[in-house]
Amino acid sequence: MSAYAERRVPVALGGRAYEVLIGAGLIDRAGELLSAHLPRRRTAIVTDRHVADHHGERLAAALEAGGVAVDMVVLPPGEQTKSFAGLEDLTDRLLALKLDRGDRIIAFGGGVVGDLAGFAAAVYKRGIDFIQVPTTLLAQVDSSVGGKTAIDTAAGKNLVGAFHQPALVLADLDVLATLPDREMRAGYAEVLKYGLLGDEAFFAWLEANGEAVLAREPTPLAYAVARCVEMKAAIVAEDERETGRRALLNLGHTFAHALESETGFGDALLHGEAVAAGCALAFRFSAELGFCSPEAASRAEATIAKAALPTRLHALAGAPFGAARLAGHMAQDKKADASGLVFVLARDVGEAFVAKGVDRDALLRFLVAEGATIDLTT
Ligand code: GLY
Repeated sequence: MSAYAERRVPVALGGRAYEVLIGAGLIDRAGELLSAHLPRRRTAIVTDRHVADHHGERLAAALEAGGVAVDMVVLPPGEQTKSFAGLEDLTDRLLALKLDRGDRIIAFGGGVVGDLAGFAAAVYKRGIDFIQVPTTLLAQVDSSVGGKTAIDTAAGKNLVGAFHQPALVLADLDVLATLPDREMRAGYAEVLKYGLLGDEAFFAWLEANGEAVLAREPTPLAYAVARCVEMKAAIVAEDERETGRRALLNLGHTFAHALESETGFGDALLHGEAVAAGCALAFRFSAELGFCSPEAASRAEATIAKAALPTRLHALAGAPFGAARLAGHMAQDKKADASGLVFVLARDVGEAFVAKGVDRDALLRFLVAEGATIDLTT
């Protein structure tokens, strides 16, 4: 096996089945790899300014060499683009290009571009197909696979969206070479999440090989991305619409979204950093409630910390946080239901489960013990 042996992971969704291609140099081969997916030899690449500057010409040239006519739609970088205004701007630009339903768009970027372009594809002319070419570790291991697309609203993150599966995902590991270290680590939080939620052996492998993954050594990096995608593909194939097992992919996310809401979803606290702290909190909360041992929580925390990711509230920009304010955000979480607060908790490393009806007072006590302030009048 060469260092960068290409892997193809199927996402078995019947009529909406597709493959995730993982390997090096895929962008340079986009003309050939996407050929069958672009029968009309025309596409619009939706990207942001940073990705366009680094890799835009390469992808466009590869497609043009394959006989595909390309338009570039370059968006401002940043979470604020994932809004109703951003959606309107993008769909207006696609309409101006006169793309029709038989054409496909390519979402070329990180989670923001993938979520927005995917949602635009879901609603543009009542739906056109799209291809994901994720350029961050976070997007390659998580957000580009599984068909969740969304924009943010004033009430919160990802609250308006659609399930719209891509026709193909092309995860080119070479693009990670230009990813800033902070973003690489933030994406790595999602990699750790997969081990923590459902694969102790993978977590043990990450304990031994995490530094090599973060250093972007080809073989460990390729294995880590492929293992996450395999796990996600299996979960999504079983529960596309998140009526059950897919919720496990939200390990750490209830805490994370609350923290991001408090810090404004910006550069102060990247999503992956919030997920890292959220996973550590979820394990300590599990230990506090008696679901897992303190040793399991310490093991999770030590490995997250080893990757220079935050595990404690006081380490986060925006600290101190009000306990009741955080709990208020958690009550808004999409998982919350009539039973009340819903968390993904753990019985051990690799054994996450969905806990419904979590007691609000127990949560508040836990948050205060973790260093959140007492703001119980909020
Ligand atoms: N990022 C979690 C999911 O796709 O379900």
